[in-house]
Amino acid sequence: MRAIRGRLLDFTADPAEAGAAAARYVADGAVAVEGGTILARGPAAEVLAGLPPGTPVDRYPDALVMPGLIDTHIHYPQTRVIASYGAQLLDWLDTYTFPEEQRFADPAHAARIAGFFIDELLRNGTTTALVYCTVHPESVEAFFAESHRRNTLMVAGKVLMDRNAPEALCDTAERGHAESRALIDRWHGTGRQLYAVTPRFAITSTEAQLDAAGSLLRETPGLFLQTHLSENRDEIAAVRRLFPWAKSYTDVYDRFGLLGARSVFGHGIHLDDDEVSRLAETGSTVAFCPTSNLFIGSGLFDMGRVRRAGVKVGLATDVGGGTSFSMPRTAAEAYKVLQLQHQNLPALAAFHMMTRGNATALGLEGRIGTLEPGSDADMVVLDSRATPAMRHRMEAMPGDADSSDPGAELFVLMTLGDDRAVAATYVAGERVHRNGG
Ligand code: GUN
Ligand code: ZN
Repeated sequence: MRAIRGRLLDFTADPAEAGAAAARYVADGAVAVEGGTILARGPAAEVLAGLPPGTPVDRYPDALVMPGLIDTHIHYPQTRVIASYGAQLLDWLDTYTFPEEQRFADPAHAARIAGFFIDELLRNGTTTALVYCTVHPESVEAFFAESHRRNTLMVAGKVLMDRNAPEALCDTAERGHAESRALIDRWHGTGRQLYAVTPRFAITSTEAQLDAAGSLLRETPGLFLQTHLSENRDEIAAVRRLFPWAKSYTDVYDRFGLLGARSVFGHGIHLDDDEVSRLAETGSTVAFCPTSNLFIGSGLFDMGRVRRAGVKVGLATDVGGGTSFSMPRTAAEAYKVLQLQHQNLPALAAFHMMTRGNATALGLEGRIGTLEPGSDADMVVLDSRATPAMRHRMEAMPGDADSSDPGAELFVLMTLGDDRAVAATYVAGERVHRNGG
């Protein structure tokens, strides 16, 4: 057993719908954890009084203690693709991504990158992610083995590709199904690991393979589905040529039974109204990837329109099309993308997205995303005065630490913060990262 004492913040609802009352802020609070689970949360005086004498307390007097951050779309094999110059989606895949992904046939390489990747997530306060591996089962094995060893809750899967990619990165519909099946049996529900069926996107799968992906989902309830959708105009035109019978890009996935409450579609920038309606009807999620959408020039995601239609929207880094592992940095770019469309993203709504909102998008609410007793003790400790510029900016907010509305401070955190503002990260109650040691 241990306790973490600081300024607690989590959400009971979406501030975009319920207003500021959705945020639960405790200026001097504590979270008690045991066996990887949150036992109690509340005012420090109350929580600490209920603990056995001598229970260790980690103290963060000025920092915010929040649920661990969640990333709903990221590629672990692309950690060395970040910052690849000058290409838009299809060229970017051919020039940079497919060559790098070929290296993951080597289990030692996959293990090394998986270790780096999870370190980097934890340094950024991200404790759960929905992760693409490569087509090689070895890449999935390496990733889950690393995540299991660290006890992080990760959702990941083997990429399915059986056409329009280099030979070395292609499986077949049958092999992709069999390899996914074996990985599901081995890893889905092993410790904290969960499996996502992962057809890369419609361009790189035959109809037989998309059909096999649908079969996998039907065979095992509780699996996730992740893919890319409507990111780039040339991509959409190619999908139209490859699937001439389909009403739309979304319709391709719909025909094979891939839409649903545990399905997460990356990007969704150029959707028509019928596509948005189908995504809403099926309870599907679109992952908003602002740094990637800007960096590879894909377009401005109209979050207001998609959300008004009732589609769940997750926030995601999409490393390595995306340029940062940091969810606060990603939220800052989301804010700018929405500003360009005269929409807003208040800081409370942004931090809700990074925590409870993304947990809900993944159907994992109740387990992660809040500090509610009974949920997993994954937490991030954020310091709004981590850099000289942040301290300087915070000086203009006297008395903020006592304020019952942390929104202004959170906006500084998301606009200026990054891994330097992550004072500590906890996974299942254990401190796995501490800034400066
Ligand atoms: N579409 C298909 N594959 C990818 C990928 O790896 N990254 C992005 N951003 N889009 C994709
Ligand atoms: Zn992606």
